[in-house]
Amino acid sequence: MRVGIVGGYGKMGQWFCRNLSDCDIAIYGRDSTKTRQCAQKLGVRPMEDIKSLLDYAEMIIVSVPLSETASMLERIKDFVPAGKKICDIASLKSKAVQVLSTYPQHIAVSSVHPLFGPGSPGFNRKKVIIVPVESRKKESDFFCTFFKEQGASVMVSDAVSHDRMMALTLSLPHFLGYLFSSMILHHPSEAIHQFEGTSFKYLFTFSKAVLQEDPLFYFELMQNPQVIPVLDSLIDRAETLKALIATGDRSAFLQCVGELHRKLTEKDLSEAYALFNRLTH
Ligand SMILES: NC(=O)c1ccc[n+]([C@@H]2O[C@H](COP(=O)([O-])OP(=O)(O)OC[C@H]3O[C@@H](n4cnc5c(N)ncnc54)[C@H](OP(=O)(O)O)[C@@H]3O)[C@@H](O)[C@H]2O)c1
Repeated sequence: MRVGIVGGYGKMGQWFCRNLSDCDIAIYGRDSTKTRQCAQKLGVRPMEDIKSLLDYAEMIIVSVPLSETASMLERIKDFVPAGKKICDIASLKSKAVQVLSTYPQHIAVSSVHPLFGPGSPGFNRKKVIIVPVESRKKESDFFCTFFKEQGASVMVSDAVSHDRMMALTLSLPHFLGYLFSSMILHHPSEAIHQFEGTSFKYLFTFSKAVLQEDPLFYFELMQNPQVIPVLDSLIDRAETLKALIATGDRSAFLQCVGELHRKLTEKDLSEAYALFNRLTH
């Protein structure tokens, strides 16, 4: 399969170059020097212009920043030759799917979200979400098969559910990471180290890991309209919990935690505790 990656010298573009098996890969990037250097380093084909990439590839992967994905898909729409297959890999889906739905019928379209970052060791059992374009679901079959054959664990979702879940599973943990850092980093680090216990160490490690990630990427991710309702709910729940503590209402507090406890099995809880201890010792 000839695969062409738009944004090919970016983090995910390079990851695909290294990890796609049984493919002849070409990359295009807006800086031709970087494109050539990266292609040489990774042993893939550099393309001087986007049109050459679209002509060469049977399957096109758009791997530009989240905020640029919809406009890139729009920009290349009229240049994608008939019979090609095209997907983006943006971390949010609503805008990309909307543009893909306007592509001519003679091009197979789908949106794809690898649920892992460029540090992943490979496709093996990593989750890839396929988001079909409404009314063109059949065209996603190719992408499902392609990523399954690469070794990924593939699941299908619609764009709205996908973006709602990303607000919970990606944006919320990162928001909490920033929040925790913003609370803690005002204190002298020496005092923190002297007094830190296991749970603190665990949360602080996560928060520091969040800080080393690209803040622009997470800012873009939090522009998902589904994020604000999640944060509103977070603040409401924090207020409720705070009120239980402030009023010293022991039975309400125990009832609240008991309800959370009942949503999990004993196995969930004991496995989490064992994992927590392994990670922190
Ligand atoms: N990073 C992750 O953990 C992750 C995980 C899953 C999915 N994704 C998705 O993967 C996509 C790429 O993310 P990334 O982390 O690889 O970002 P990245 O490292 O910033 O790479 C994006 C690439 O796109 C290029 N680019 C930017 N604007 C462009 C334009 N107008 N025309 C052509 N090329 C352009 C950039 O080139 P310059 O360097 O010259 O600006 C860069 O090479 C995003 O949609 C993101 O949501 C990311």
